[in-house]
Amino acid sequence: MLEQAEKIIKDAQERIAAAGNLQALEAIRVEFLGRQGKITGLLRGLGKLPAEERPAAGEAANRARTAIEAALSSRKEQLQAVGEKAQAEDIFDVTIPGRRPMIGHQHPLTQVREEICNIFIGLGFEVVEGPEVETLYYGFEALNYPPDHPAIDETDTYYVTDNVLLRSQTSSVQVREMEKRAPAPSRLVVPGRVYRRENVTMTHSDTFYQLEGLLVDKGINLGHLKGILESFAIQYYGPQTRVRIRPDFFPFVEPGGDFSIDCSFCKGQGCKFCKDSGWVELGGCGMVHPNVLRAGGYDPEEVTGFAFGVGIDRLTQRRFSIDHIRLLYENDMRFLAQF
Ligand code: FA5
Repeated sequence: MLEQAEKIIKDAQERIAAAGNLQALEAIRVEFLGRQGKITGLLRGLGKLPAEERPAAGEAANRARTAIEAALSSRKEQLQAVGEKAQAEDIFDVTIPGRRPMIGHQHPLTQVREEICNIFIGLGFEVVEGPEVETLYYGFEALNYPPDHPAIDETDTYYVTDNVLLRSQTSSVQVREMEKRAPAPSRLVVPGRVYRRENVTMTHSDTFYQLEGLLVDKGINLGHLKGILESFAIQYYGPQTRVRIRPDFFPFVEPGGDFSIDCSFCKGQGCKFCKDSGWVELGGCGMVHPNVLRAGGYDPEEVTGFAFGVGIDRLTQRRFSIDHIRLLYENDMRFLAQF
């Protein structure tokens, strides 16, 4: 009887340790401790033993019951802990509905950039890109900037080394591309990211996007520049849009100007959007300076050209009524999902 009790304990402990779930554990409990179970059978058999053997046999049967109960309870705790962890980690619950993947779409800046590029492709321009990390030469010197011009200063431009900088305008691509094409004509637009040491405001960022336009050929004049800017503005803003060019200074154009469209909100009457001027500025423009044409490999006696540059961020802000430029760079999905 004592040996039998020891064997039952050993058998039960092995089976309990191997039980993989709570149902299997319950079946083992019933098998050993249930009404028809092996321990109950042992206790029932006590009556058939001689009187002097009964106390020791009874003690052995009770010890077996206690040992099996302890093993059951400890394994139950282990299995419950594993189950809770699995639930917490969402591993085994195959009934939970799946999560839908978010479907991506173009960033508003990309949408506007592509729309503008497509308009210029339609006007016969080629789309090219240039390096964001640029040399001092293409960034300023080849663009006819005098060495002491404030834009070259470290307070306005980010430098990598004394002669290498983060470009502050897409105009840096002008001479690079002219060099590749001269004396054949150049007719291209250059979208790209630029960097300036500036404080961020609602309409100014230290990183933003511009689109440069350049056309060099025989007989190009200001009329062609205005015609191209008007064609662009009409296709982008609508058929009634008017374009105004006013004198402004940039070292790489002569004459230079800034160009605006009439305010679409107040139709030129004046509102807070156009700061009561009736006009909204889009960028700078002008006739390519002879020194820049020369740097690009052209003979200014043979050809002339125009260039312009627009801020893609401002166009995007206006297109989607985005009041703060920083929203375009935070990559907050709640914001981007709206466009
Ligand atoms: C230029 O950058 C000239 N390269 C444009 C040009 C090209 C003139 C070719 C002549 C010939 P400007 O600094 O004004 O010019 O910038 C052009 C446009 O970029 C501005 O009208 C504005 O829309 C945008 N822009 C300028 N600074 C910022 C800024 N910090 N954040 C966002 N957009 C800006």
